[in-house]
Amino acid sequence: MADETQKVWSEVDRYFSDLLMKSDAALDAALEENRKANLPAIDVTPLQGKFLELLARISGARKILELGTLGGYSTIWLARALPEGGQLVTLELEPLHAEVASANLQRAGMMNRVDLRVGRAVDTLKALEAEGAGPFDLIFIDADKSGYPEYLEWALKLSRAGTVIVADNVVRDGNVVDADSADVNIQGVRQFTELVAAEPRLSATVLQTVGAKGYDGFAMAVVVA
Ligand code: SAH
Ligand code: DHB
Ligand code: MG
Repeated sequence: MADETQKVWSEVDRYFSDLLMKSDAALDAALEENRKANLPAIDVTPLQGKFLELLARISGARKILELGTLGGYSTIWLARALPEGGQLVTLELEPLHAEVASANLQRAGMMNRVDLRVGRAVDTLKALEAEGAGPFDLIFIDADKSGYPEYLEWALKLSRAGTVIVADNVVRDGNVVDADSADVNIQGVRQFTELVAAEPRLSATVLQTVGAKGYDGFAMAVVVA
C-alpha cells in the first residue's frame, strides 16, 4: 500500500479512537506486556476490539468462544461484553502467549469469566465437544488462517440458530483474490469463505477494513437454521 494511503488510514484510525475510546489501563498494559514478551503485534486494533465488544453486546452473547488468544487483547474486549454469569472460552496454541494472556486477563479483572485452554485448537475443540460445551452465542475465529476451514466446521458444531460467527483477517491486503497464491493463509481464508458460501445453515457477509494495521476484513455470519 502506498505510504501516503497508509498514513491517512492511520490518521483516521487515531482520530476516531481518540474521540470514541477512553484511555484504558488494562488494555494499554496488555499491549505493553505483549511487546515486552515479544509477542507478534497482530492483535485487533482498538476500534476493532470495540467493534467485537459491540457485536457481543448487540447479540446478547452469554457464551463466547475465541480461537487464537495471543496476549488476550481481543479476549478482554469480548469478555467485557458478557453479562453477569457469562463465560468466554479462548483457545491458544503457544504456552508463552497463554501465559502472557493469563496475566493480562487477570489484570483486567476478567479471569473469573474466562476459560483459557492451551493446545492445538483442533484438540481443545474436540475436548469442548466431548464436555458438551456450547452452544456458543458468538464465535470469533482468529487462530492460524490455514485452519479456518476446519474451524468453521467446529464453529457450526458448537452453535445454535442465531449464533454469530466472526472471522478475522479474510482480506489480507487484498491478496484474498489471488486464487493461485502459494500462501497457505490465503488458501485457508479462500477455502473458508467458499465453505461459508456453500453452507445453507449460514447467512454471511464480509466487512473490509482499513486502519492502523493496514487493509483487511472480517467475515461475519449468522447461523440461520
Ligand atoms: N485474537 C488475538 C490475536 C490472535 S493472533 C487478538 O486480536 O488480540 C493468532 C493466535 O493464534 C496466535 O497467538 C497463535 O499462537 C494462535 N494459534 C496459531 N495456531 C493455532 C492453533 N493451531 N491452535 C490454537 N491457536 C493457534
Ligand atoms: C496475522 C494473524 C492475525 O490474527 C492478524 O490479525 C494479522 C496477521 C498473521 O498471521 O499474519
Ligand atoms: Mg487476527
